[in-house]
Amino acid sequence: MRLSVIGCGYLGAVHAAAMASIGHDVVGIDVDARKIESLQAGRAPFFEPGLQEILEDGIASGRLRFSTDFADAAGAAVHFVGVGTPQQKDGYAADLTYVNAAVDALIPHLNAGDIVAGKSTVPVGTAAALAEKVAPTGATLVWNPEFLREGFAVQDTIDPDRLVAGVPTGPAGEQATGILREVYHTAIAKDTPFIVTDYATAELVKVAANAFLATKISFINAMAEIAESTGADVTQLADAIGHDARIGRRFLGAGIGFGGGCLPKDIRAFSARAEELGRGESVAFLRQVDEINLRRRERAAQLVVDALDGSVHGKNVTVLGAAFKPHSDDIRDSPALDVAVRLHGLGANVTVTDPEAIDNARRVHPQLTYVHDRDEALAGADAVIVVTEWDHYRRELDPAHAATLVNGTIVVDGRNCLDPAAWRAAGWTYHGMGRPRLS
Ligand code: UGA
Repeated sequence: MRLSVIGCGYLGAVHAAAMASIGHDVVGIDVDARKIESLQAGRAPFFEPGLQEILEDGIASGRLRFSTDFADAAGAAVHFVGVGTPQQKDGYAADLTYVNAAVDALIPHLNAGDIVAGKSTVPVGTAAALAEKVAPTGATLVWNPEFLREGFAVQDTIDPDRLVAGVPTGPAGEQATGILREVYHTAIAKDTPFIVTDYATAELVKVAANAFLATKISFINAMAEIAESTGADVTQLADAIGHDARIGRRFLGAGIGFGGGCLPKDIRAFSARAEELGRGESVAFLRQVDEINLRRRERAAQLVVDALDGSVHGKNVTVLGAAFKPHSDDIRDSPALDVAVRLHGLGANVTVTDPEAIDNARRVHPQLTYVHDRDEALAGADAVIVVTEWDHYRRELDPAHAATLVNGTIVVDGRNCLDPAAWRAAGWTYHGMGRPRLS
């Protein structure tokens, strides 16, 4: 099937390459000429496991190409819209400039019967407004939210745990549903749940899912705060409540909290939209979720200060991690870098290392020192803080070896990802998040 994908950022580039990998004929379109040049040359513009391979294969097979010209979308049966919806500069609401611009630029190239499938995360009500815009062309608008996780984006796109489509009522909606089933034929053949619903539900499924995940993380981080005042261990608490299948252990990782390009801005946009709808009180708890989350970054920096007897001024602090999570070079709203910047602001000599995200981090926070090699970064540290749980630190860093490199054997585990017993046995003073000092 011929497909176009408008917007070749994180979502769009992965979607275009993944759709080509399952046999579709795909053109990816973006206004950023440099990005398109890189993609067309078979170079992934960001780090995402597996993307480079399917990009190269797609280009080589002739099933995947990229363009800056919206006219190249003409003739596709389905046009996916996957542009960004960032937080507005002067508020919490989502900025829909790019979504509107993409649909406006696409409209002259649509044919009657085409499907325009929105994938961006948008405030509820957006799809209905876009459907009106598109209606004069005879194309049908559907809302098909994306649930991929960075670091697993290719896998999640090809093999999602569910598909959701918000469609209009009547024959146009039925026809659109049939076409989407063809697009996602490989997932549907594996009995992936395919939920067909209205626009508002489809839009809300996405924000509700992210709000739930963010709430789960802040819940366990709130328990970490209580644990810190009572001597309890939040990791054992999470294990114990996680055994209840109704709760589940995933997303109960206490630490420096959530970041990235999705959860923080999505809960804020949801709050802003609920206010507009006169339902602010229904999601008032999301403000608390946000506040708890931001407090944990402050707490992590404070743990380093306390461990260094009340001041980090002039001390060498090595920060292990910069990406907002492992398997990614994404530093958008990264809790890891936030902690690093705070420590720098308190007068520490901060050295940051990360397997993938250093170049991005340096562009945004040039005041910090960056070192590619982990051992070199550890050399002479008075304290070490782990802020992104890459295997490179979590599993592959031998505490006995690390102890030979540093000046002071103090480690703050901002992700509760190290084995405290092993680090203590190697002579380190270990500080976790929401864990007693001597657990
Ligand atoms: C999130 C959702 O998980 C995806 O389903 C969704 O499609 C995506 O947003 C999106 O809206 O595009 P992502 O931002 O890639 O995906 O990252 P997550 O794996 O959700 O992690 C988000 C943050 O939460 C990270 O900073 C991570 O370190 C943190 N986290 C995660 C915790 O602090 N504790 C946990 O237990 C789990």
